[in-house]
Amino acid sequence: MRMSMISVTEAIAKLRAGNIVAIPTETVYGLAGRIDDESALKQIFHIKERPFFDPLIVHVADIAQARRLSNGWQDIYTALAEAFWPGPLTLVVPKAEVVSSLITAGLDSVAIRCPRHPVALEILKELQIPLAAPSANRFGRTSPTRAEHVEREFEGQVDVVDGGQSEIGVESTVLAVEPGEKWRVEILRPGGVSRTQIQKALEDAGFQFEIVRATSAAAPGQLKAHYQPGCPVVLIENKPWTAELKAIIEDQLGRKFGHASILPLGSSAQIAARSLYENFRDLSTYNDCLIVALRTPDNSGHEWEAIWDRIERAASLRL
Ligand code: TXA
Ligand code: MG
Repeated sequence: MRMSMISVTEAIAKLRAGNIVAIPTETVYGLAGRIDDESALKQIFHIKERPFFDPLIVHVADIAQARRLSNGWQDIYTALAEAFWPGPLTLVVPKAEVVSSLITAGLDSVAIRCPRHPVALEILKELQIPLAAPSANRFGRTSPTRAEHVEREFEGQVDVVDGGQSEIGVESTVLAVEPGEKWRVEILRPGGVSRTQIQKALEDAGFQFEIVRATSAAAPGQLKAHYQPGCPVVLIENKPWTAELKAIIEDQLGRKFGHASILPLGSSAQIAARSLYENFRDLSTYNDCLIVALRTPDNSGHEWEAIWDRIERAASLRL
């Protein structure tokens, strides 16, 4: 075991003392710190090299803890939380006074989720203090889905609890819900819970609603260049991969590539999501490489929404 790998017990003690620790979640690994400690929060931004205008997600042990962080909790939040928590859904809700503006980047809303990875849940239940945790990667880079990814990203500078491979592999779905004639459910970031699952849960709970996808500009922190691996990614729409296409890309990007790797996607969105970031990392270890993502009718159904969102954000070029 390497120096920076720590046990759950050690992680709880360190977090309680105001240190930051990388913890496994079912989506990706998070860089966690207690929400009531300003220096822990500042440390998260510092280590990640994250700008203060990008708000953090608060992780809670249960719905009761989430409600205490909001001054405008609604029944529809309870319905969504009951359907998907613990799990990969983040709710943006009106924030209570106790939530530091460092977490929310000065917004009057706070993003909250209850993760279902057993290690994350155990830590949260034991601590009884919510944890702010962005993905445990440097700002703009690929999120980690294994403890070793965190170690490599921060060169052993951050303590990590090893919880194995993240089961989902892409970040949580971030939702904002606005009241109106009917509820307006806005997907700020597609992720581990699909639009169809949200639709079904709200229908079953008897709500009148519409689901819309936020435009990139409207969602804070949803910068276009994000999730970038170490070598360029190109997105090819419904075309076979050919030498001519490679020449066009080299011309447009203004450089030659010794190696072009086709991103393995397969036919299961679930499996593709789980290994997406790891594939980005592995393929980036070649020098002079190009990562090619081939979008076809077979891999573009609604359950692929989060995957193509991440590939689009990572891509330097789309043809
Ligand atoms: O799956 C996940 O959500 C992971 C794990 C660690 O839980 N966390 C994660 O955090 O992806 P991060 O910081 O990489 O992404 C947080 C996203 C950002 O896009 C941010 O803009 C958005 O949540 N967000 C946070 N607070 C918000 C708010 N008050 N309003 C709108 N968006 C918010
Ligand atoms: Mg992130």
